[in-house]
Amino acid sequence: MQISNSIALVTGANRGIGKAYVEALAKAGAQRIYAAARSIESLQPIIAIAPDRIIPLALDITKLEEINAAAGIAGDVNLLINNAGVLGGGSGAFAEDSVETARRELDINFFGTFNMCRAFAPILKNNGGGVLVNLLSIASIVGIPAISSYCASKAALHVLTQGIRTELKVQGTLVVGVYPGPIDTDMAAGIDMDKVPPLSVAERTLAAIEQNSEEVYPDPVAEQVFAGMHTPMKAVEQQFAGMMPA
Ligand SMILES: NC(=O)c1ccc[n+]([C@@H]2O[C@H](COP(=O)([O-])OP(=O)(O)OC[C@H]3O[C@@H](n4cnc5c(N)ncnc54)[C@H](OP(=O)(O)O)[C@@H]3O)[C@@H](O)[C@H]2O)c1
Repeated sequence: MQISNSIALVTGANRGIGKAYVEALAKAGAQRIYAAARSIESLQPIIAIAPDRIIPLALDITKLEEINAAAGIAGDVNLLINNAGVLGGGSGAFAEDSVETARRELDINFFGTFNMCRAFAPILKNNGGGVLVNLLSIASIVGIPAISSYCASKAALHVLTQGIRTELKVQGTLVVGVYPGPIDTDMAAGIDMDKVPPLSVAERTLAAIEQNSEEVYPDPVAEQVFAGMHTPMKAVEQQFAGMMPA
């Protein structure tokens, strides 16, 4: 897909990597961009990026009625970017509220994104197949101390992404997984590591879409974590993709 032919929807578009996706899409000439966020007011500065092409949408991805309403409005989408996510806590698996934190992370990162995929897969099909992007993480493939429930939610989404890649192939949808390391946003404010600007994640993703790539490792930490792991991981995914029922 050429980004200049895209009609995109970005969740969590009001800040961080989501805002960067809107900026990058506008710069690359996307025809229309639905910028979705829980608070419509928080989207005012985002609309200003390209007021003629950006349409604000109120969307909490944990609310099925809001997902269905968004799907009703944005029936012309051919590029869905499931960016919204949460890092619920950093106090570890044995903190008093760790199970509640884990449920919230799964509710947003896994079930919310899953419901977005379910609502928009038929729309992508109607619009020629299109592209579905899920924001994963290096945390999708490794448990990181103090945030292991976040890692579990991103691991669940990683495996779901592999499965739906095969299920949506028949309708011509490219399913892209983005696996960032530390990126300079509010979410990573407490992480004391070199961080990459969010715009570079967005630009690397759009370049991957134009090249038909299924995975994006958008920063040096991600490249290092996945180096050497990629070939066996892809081989195992493809082995199981062959088990898709007819
Ligand atoms: N930053 C990193 O280092 C990093 C690394 C790997 C992966 N990621 C992933 O990249 C994505 C974007 O992260 P970020 O760094 O940009 O984080 P961020 O700055 O904390 O922004 C998170 C975004 O998700 C939205 N959101 C949270 N819960 C939502 C819900 N229930 N419904 C709709 N939107 C919701 C937030 O909206 P509100 O403003 O309303 O809260 C916000 O727009 C996430 O999926 C994250 O897991 C980030």
